[in-house]
Amino acid sequence: MPFPTKVKLVEVGPRDGLQNEAMTIPTDVKIEFINRLSATGLSVIETTSFVSPKWVPQLADNHEVFSKINQKAHISYPVLIPNLTGLERALTVDVKEIALFCTPSEKFSQRNTNCTVAESLARIAELMPVAKKHNLRVRGYISCVLGCPYEGDISPHAVADLAEKLIQLGCYEISLGDTIGVGTPKKTAAMLETVMKKIPVEKLAVHFHDTYGQALANIYVALEHGVSVIDSSVSGLGGCPYAKGASGNVASEDVLYMLNGMGIETGVDLEKLIAVGQFISGFLKRPSQSKVNVAFSSRNK
Ligand code: HMG
Ligand code: MG
Repeated sequence: MPFPTKVKLVEVGPRDGLQNEAMTIPTDVKIEFINRLSATGLSVIETTSFVSPKWVPQLADNHEVFSKINQKAHISYPVLIPNLTGLERALTVDVKEIALFCTPSEKFSQRNTNCTVAESLARIAELMPVAKKHNLRVRGYISCVLGCPYEGDISPHAVADLAEKLIQLGCYEISLGDTIGVGTPKKTAAMLETVMKKIPVEKLAVHFHDTYGQALANIYVALEHGVSVIDSSVSGLGGCPYAKGASGNVASEDVLYMLNGMGIETGVDLEKLIAVGQFISGFLKRPSQSKVNVAFSSRNK
């Protein structure tokens, strides 16, 4: 399959990136972060999550963050939702797009959402009519698609079955998450080929974490298979609090640099994205995890 000519980057830094930070990040810094991302040309910025604040205290200010950001008309600002309670709370700030999540791994489902895989699907089925009633766009994540920290290998067929169920339940797109970054290119190809037997590639996104330094290689494989939606996090922020060993998401700057080099259009400005990566890394007082950001920043010193 030819490479896509255009790719949509889904920036997950404000949610997936920040959810695991130990230090409480002030709400105004999160708002500034999202506003700066909004000026880079991105068309999707996952903003926060409406999960239980006992489970993810860092994002307990979801309501205030979402209602105070300067939303731009051409940008979608999805929020992550685990259940009907989360959806009801998100509706009070007038969200337009939500992202739901589940996994084929029973153990990961228990650790991340305190329920079985079947129960997580039942929660999704319960909230979907409410989402539809409010005309929300619904994206579905599948976690641990290339391996689970508690169960090890995951069957690509189990991923494909779950993806099919999420589409049947009403998701417009499925983001395939290598939550702990264990995937390698051939494994990625095999998983994608199995999923693509059930779901058209136009409805698939990939979501890699870079724990073992494989994310860009895996993304290249996904592009070869025609995937044209890529999740990433500026400066490689991130990790899942319920996935032992999960390091940051693939850095948005690194993905964009590769796509620019391949002549694939994204609409996102690399220098502006690098500046946002510097802003948030500066606040967190640690170097950017993006090689491209570090290289550009040292070149321009
Ligand atoms: P639970 O404790 O079983 O919930 O958690 P419960 O239904 O028994 O309720 C307990 C209390 O929490 C109640 O309050 C509820 O009202 C409240 P109380 O009566 O004790 O005062 N509650 C809520 N409050 C606010 N918002 C809500 C909510 N729901 C219940 N939405 C639950 C079950 C699903 C809520 C919990 O396990 C949870 O929030 N889990 C989310 C964990 C999480 O955010 N993980 C990271 C995101 S997933 C990820 O990062 C992977 C991804 O990036 C893809 C990839 O990388 O592969 C997506
Ligand atoms: Mg993630």
